[in-house]
Amino acid sequence: MTRTPVNVTVTGAAGQIGYALLFRIASGHLLGADVPVSLRLLEIPQGLKAAEGTAMELDDAAFPLLRGIEITDDPNTAFDGANVALLVGARPRTKGMERGDLLEANGGIFKPQGKAINDHAADDIKVLVVGNPANTNALIAQSAAPDVPADRFTAMTRLDHNRAIAQLAKRTGAQVSDIKRLTIWGNHSATQYPDIFHAEVAGKNAAEVVNDEQWLADTFIPTVAKRGAAIIEARGASSAASAASAALDHVHTWVNGTADGDWTSMGIVSDGSYGVPAGLISSFPVTTENGSFEIVQGLEINEFSRPRIDASVQELAEERDAVRALGLI
Ligand code: NAD
Ligand code: LMR
Repeated sequence: MTRTPVNVTVTGAAGQIGYALLFRIASGHLLGADVPVSLRLLEIPQGLKAAEGTAMELDDAAFPLLRGIEITDDPNTAFDGANVALLVGARPRTKGMERGDLLEANGGIFKPQGKAINDHAADDIKVLVVGNPANTNALIAQSAAPDVPADRFTAMTRLDHNRAIAQLAKRTGAQVSDIKRLTIWGNHSATQYPDIFHAEVAGKNAAEVVNDEQWLADTFIPTVAKRGAAIIEARGASSAASAASAALDHVHTWVNGTADGDWTSMGIVSDGSYGVPAGLISSFPVTTENGSFEIVQGLEINEFSRPRIDASVQELAEERDAVRALGLI
């Protein structure tokens, strides 16, 4: 195999998502089974030793596609020549921390990382922000990278998308592979809106198959939107393997394209479509082809959906205003 390896940078590499993610990147699940990768692992100084342990295990797995591993605590080194960047490391909310404190602490991470991407990444850089609050962290990084096209900065709502597909499959007795055109709108938070009105179950309109608005409002939407909290409650730790899997899905779809007749959900910089103020990083239905994506246009937004989309977008606008007031964007 003579292809040049793709440089993939993963931040927070010693964390629990990092541990679930790196082995699958190295075995071809991020970009494809024939694409060699070179990994750059970014950690804070306290995380370097654990990242070295993970790198030892990556060596021991003898992945044919893995062409190199570099570990660093310097963002400028980590993003040098990066083609794909997975920004996973973030500051979790700790006891007594207000939302503003959390945004500020994450600004201290994502602003310098955005600048390092701006100054050092490859021209074709694609960025996925996983670390929470993902949409606003992506906005902070994107704002610090004026020389990189804004559409290269994305936030992860694919986990929500996958969760919604799984719940809809359970309810309808369909296979997950029978479900298409589902949409997550808005923020990766409890205000997100999983929309089945344009979705299909085995070729039939999903809302008509379900035919139960009360189930949608009282069961489906809260189950999907609060699934992260339910996992934390059950596992005693936030979702890791499913989050890693969704990160792989997000980038794989971005690079390799959506299937004909289907779309996915990605947090992307709004162009004003569907009344989402331009510049916010909000989740939309998108199709992807040849490494680019487009918002699916022309969907009719009904009376059930409109206020739910607006509420999540309003939360994003408030987060944007808060980080603006902190001088982070
Ligand atoms: P974790 O605490 O296990 O790991 C985080 C790692 O990031 C730690 O090793 C830490 O040392 C590192 N880190 C912190 N600051 C860093 C920095 N400035 N540079 C590099 N590394 C840094 O957390 P986790 O379970 O792996 O989750 C990571 C993030 O992903 C959290 O913010 C979590 O809330 C978020 N998350 C998002 C989704 C989503 O769907 N968008 C889903 C699950 C989790
Ligand atoms: C998730 O959706 O599982 C996570 O974003 C939850 C969290 O707060 O880490």
